[in-house]
Amino acid sequence: MNRIDKLLASMTLDEKIGQLNMATAGQAVTGPIVGAPTTEAIRDGKVGSLLNLFGSEATARYQKLAVEQTRLAIPLLFCADVLHGHRTTFPIPLAEAGLFDPETWERTARAAAAEAAAEGIALTFAPMLDIARDPRWGRIAEGPGEDPRLGARFATAKVRGFQGADLAAPESIAATAKHFCAGGAAAAGREYAAVDVSERTLHEVYMPPFRAAVEAGCAAIMPAFNSVAGVPMTSNLRLLRDYLRRELRFDGAIISDYDAIAELLIHGVAADRAEAATLALKAGVDIDMVGGVYLAHLPEALARGLVDMDDIDAAVRRVLTLKQKLGLFDDPYRRAASAAHQMHPEDELSADVARRSITLLANHDNILPLAADLRRIAVIGPLADAPAEMLGPWSLAGDPNRCVTILRGLRAALPLCEIAYEPGVSSKGEEEGDIAAACALCAQAEVVILCVGETADMSGEAASRAAPGLPGRQRELAEAVLATGVPVVALISSGRPLMVSWLRDKARAMVATWFLGDFAGHAVADVLTGRFNPTGRLAVTWPREVGQIPIYHAEKPSSRPANPAEPFSSKYIDLPVEPLFPFGHGLSYTRVTLRNLRASRHEFSRGDSLEFEIDAVNESAIATEETIFLFAHDLVASTARPLLELKTWAKVTLAARQTKTVALTLSAESLRCLDDDFRPVLEPGEFDILVGLNADRRTLLTTRLRALPHGARES
Ligand code: BGC
Repeated sequence: MNRIDKLLASMTLDEKIGQLNMATAGQAVTGPIVGAPTTEAIRDGKVGSLLNLFGSEATARYQKLAVEQTRLAIPLLFCADVLHGHRTTFPIPLAEAGLFDPETWERTARAAAAEAAAEGIALTFAPMLDIARDPRWGRIAEGPGEDPRLGARFATAKVRGFQGADLAAPESIAATAKHFCAGGAAAAGREYAAVDVSERTLHEVYMPPFRAAVEAGCAAIMPAFNSVAGVPMTSNLRLLRDYLRRELRFDGAIISDYDAIAELLIHGVAADRAEAATLALKAGVDIDMVGGVYLAHLPEALARGLVDMDDIDAAVRRVLTLKQKLGLFDDPYRRAASAAHQMHPEDELSADVARRSITLLANHDNILPLAADLRRIAVIGPLADAPAEMLGPWSLAGDPNRCVTILRGLRAALPLCEIAYEPGVSSKGEEEGDIAAACALCAQAEVVILCVGETADMSGEAASRAAPGLPGRQRELAEAVLATGVPVVALISSGRPLMVSWLRDKARAMVATWFLGDFAGHAVADVLTGRFNPTGRLAVTWPREVGQIPIYHAEKPSSRPANPAEPFSSKYIDLPVEPLFPFGHGLSYTRVTLRNLRASRHEFSRGDSLEFEIDAVNESAIATEETIFLFAHDLVASTARPLLELKTWAKVTLAARQTKTVALTLSAESLRCLDDDFRPVLEPGEFDILVGLNADRRTLLTTRLRALPHGARES
């Protein structure tokens, strides 16, 4: 018998159920869980994991209770949301995704894991892998954007980063892929709303990042709060048991979202808590986050014959296995380093990623980079000197006092410039501001840096916006500043694309500065001054107006494609169909053109490798880094295929005036589509391969290939 079998055999029902119960640190400090103080509950073996408790001393104190005072000495699992950094804050995932750089994604997760682990955390609720095509949904900020292929690569990198090569290592933490699945498709972008997407869309769009996470060895998965086609994810037998457990063979822990088992009653699929516990357990949910439903009602469910001991044992086994893999049985304190542990060893990485995440959206007349002889700059707007906002959502342990604001960054970078500052209005518009004072400063400046956008709490969970434009009186401020006639560089801090096409038209430059973390201000200054040539690309399509949402590059064909000259075509009568900026968009201070796309073969069969080459020409006098995207379009298939499917990308650095040949490789298998049973098949017929700098179809270079019928070989 191995350790876990032995343990399981010696556990009472209560002790088993205790392992399935996650309590919050709030309760741990202040109050009762189901009648008993948590410290007592821990001693009684009623708590298997603790949410949001970190710090080496605090975790050690609670761990001691479990290890020294419970009958079986099973260590606690400390869990927290480490989404984009722990003490050191990195850019939000949506911005970091725009690096298109798996190595960096992995490094930031690794750095965050090391800091979190040093404070006793053994599991993070990350990566968040919800494909999101609706900027009204605030959680778009937390994930990798709109594309399943990008999401899958992001998933792999993040899981590897958090977990490292050895989950038991003191600097590794378990990753939780969340929220499985399709939360990004919440009706009208409204948080927690029901989702109703086709089975095909689930398989093609929402599941691939989770599949990639499982293949990378992700330790845990969290079902989403939402229902899909009427079935809450927390009790979704088909997707949790049949798909995750049986098809993908996921044998890690499934952890409910916060109170989500209890919420099955509100979904209207369980009549009482014993039923809710039953539905979740039967679907494969092992840990009940905070709701206490398993703790209080699984015994009753067992007595009523709704669940049997095997169901409970299977869940307990998975929890114990996770603890074992984390090395907790060997040394329950291995992660909680001494209080003297140095935090923030990765400042340089944070500053670098922040710089690289910035997306230069528009740059009329090349107003950026700022001229070296500028002497008077006005920095205007409520986001200019707002340290806490730079941290963005999900900053559990970030420190606003460390944050370099945009104003500070610019002042440090431009010591010879007179930089005057006036917020003009408050960020949400609830307080009176002084727009006139802002305009007066602008009148004396050679250029205005206008810092507008959202506060950190306007994106993330429960931050859906029906009108995601500039909040409060910020537009009024922007219009007044623009009316002074002084050239304006607009910086947009936000967790999502904001609907600001008017600003793109009127400002001389527009830059997405997202939420960049600790070094936001230095990063912005580096880009504005040209010390750093911007590299960020959009991981999400940027709409012109809310009415275009959802808008994304992988749309399926319409029988009457949009044509401005054709009234009965798939278009709007009041707006172009094109977004403000396409997926993959992002300018630099360099002009790069692509030429001469060629394919190594024009006919292929299963198992073949398809190689493509393209020449990238840097026409400018400074070095640059480009991201080159390769999309495919399956021209005739058994089901209509997206007009563009991202298959891969390459990053290339080019010296001044340099031309480089860039190679991109695909396997024939990557051109498969899903058949009626959602199994991948390579269908014979023609494919277009489209290569370019973003997903604007008008700009892509194309070559055509043919997949031969199975068994046929090219001559
Ligand atoms: C969120 C999860 C998060 C959990 C614990 C929930 O409200 O949906 O993403 O991991 O809280 O903080």
